[in-house]
Amino acid sequence: MVQRVTLSRAARLVGVPRGVLQRQVGEGLLLAPDGMVATADIARLYPEADFESSGAFERSSGIKESAFGRRVLERMLPAREVLAQRLYAQAQELAEVRRHLQRYHDLVTRLADELDGLSASGNGSAVGEVRALLECGLAEVLGSESVDTIAVMDDMLKVVSAQVVVRPSGREFLVEGRETLLQAGLRAGLKLNYGCGNGTCGLCKARIVAGQVTRVAPSDYRFSESERQQGYTLLCAHSAASETLVLETLEAVGPADILPQEQVVKVKAIAPLAPDTLHLQLQTSRGSRLRFLAGQSVTLGLAEEGSDVAAAYPVASCPCDDRNLSFHVPRRDGDAFALRLFAGAIRVGEALNLRGPAGDFTLADAERPLAFVACDTGFAPIRSLIEHAIAVDAAETLSLGWLATRPDGHYLANQCRAWAGAFDQFRYFPAQGGVEAAPALIAAMADARPLAAGDAYVAGPPAFVELAVAALQAHGVPAARIFASVL
Ligand code: FES
Repeated sequence: MVQRVTLSRAARLVGVPRGVLQRQVGEGLLLAPDGMVATADIARLYPEADFESSGAFERSSGIKESAFGRRVLERMLPAREVLAQRLYAQAQELAEVRRHLQRYHDLVTRLADELDGLSASGNGSAVGEVRALLECGLAEVLGSESVDTIAVMDDMLKVVSAQVVVRPSGREFLVEGRETLLQAGLRAGLKLNYGCGNGTCGLCKARIVAGQVTRVAPSDYRFSESERQQGYTLLCAHSAASETLVLETLEAVGPADILPQEQVVKVKAIAPLAPDTLHLQLQTSRGSRLRFLAGQSVTLGLAEEGSDVAAAYPVASCPCDDRNLSFHVPRRDGDAFALRLFAGAIRVGEALNLRGPAGDFTLADAERPLAFVACDTGFAPIRSLIEHAIAVDAAETLSLGWLATRPDGHYLANQCRAWAGAFDQFRYFPAQGGVEAAPALIAAMADARPLAAGDAYVAGPPAFVELAVAALQAHGVPAARIFASVL
């Protein structure tokens, strides 16, 4: 019997980006009618896949560090009620399969008896041949069928994680462990609509087209009778109860869909990344979140009354964690906010005003190879973009070139090496020197992997951006596919 799994689950099971399997479908190496692939085809294409450590439950972080069973036991189990509902659904499916098997068994037994009867009544050798064929076929089915590892893993995956399809975009994501639908969707890089994140505002409502949800967080938002009848639910308060779920909701397309927000945030940590670069971590207050797109900036200011000390910084973290925001703040003349931070005048626990997000340096929705080029703290928005690109499997290949012109150097080189170590498709090119080294950096990137067919994202000081954009164009990247952020 042909076992099939969705493309997303197959990618997860063999530990490759979904885009890789999609390319193989496009090249005819893999058949995927209705987005489903045969487990036998997957096993044929990935005979060496190590299912014990394939990262089947760990693709979001991309680090392949622990065994499947331990991962399931330790981290990925959903809430008890969700688990019970999914196990019940699987038990029903199993009971149905058993019922069918029993019927087939009865049918085969009856057929064998009939053939015996015909043979005994002297109905010739043809009956004997059919009987032999039947016995031979049964022996083959019962004796040679080996365990379909991918199908077994997929069954397990269906219990601990549910697959969600969002309409009309067709985007998919998996809900794991105790995540709400909103948390899982954001982690997967979807630009879902939401506001409070705690079941109050109703902005995250979505219509259930197929499947079941269960409430996993409190909510006091009241749906109208008509919304209730149409099957609306709150993404921030519910998880998937069924193994597959189809939702209908609108997602943000670009920066214009993200409303400006103003809120008071707390300084959670301040730590040096290098002598002249600080890592500032902020946290939104409980019950509020910053909705933003990867690559965007916010303005931070002192909360003291009458203070006009404020500055804009790109968010260096992923929108999937919308309560904890990271910034790489360089020491620079004329930036009163940064100078106060370096002077220790802004402390952990202090309240700051946050306004934003702003900017259109965001990832285009296209599955082309991605090249990122940063200079100094231009790495901050690039880091956010890369984390987002990894979360959404945005491209088959990613390249990062990082030019350090200051003594602070590549202050998060370990992070870059970790990406390169965890993802086969990720290449890292560090370079040191003045901004005039930008063309040489881009030439090195182009030598390793042609850039012309992809999109390029450049962030850094004006002189660097100008040189980098010209170099990218010289290597064949069309101007329309170069996105730049001048810091
Ligand atoms: S985000 Fe406000 S109710 Fe869900």
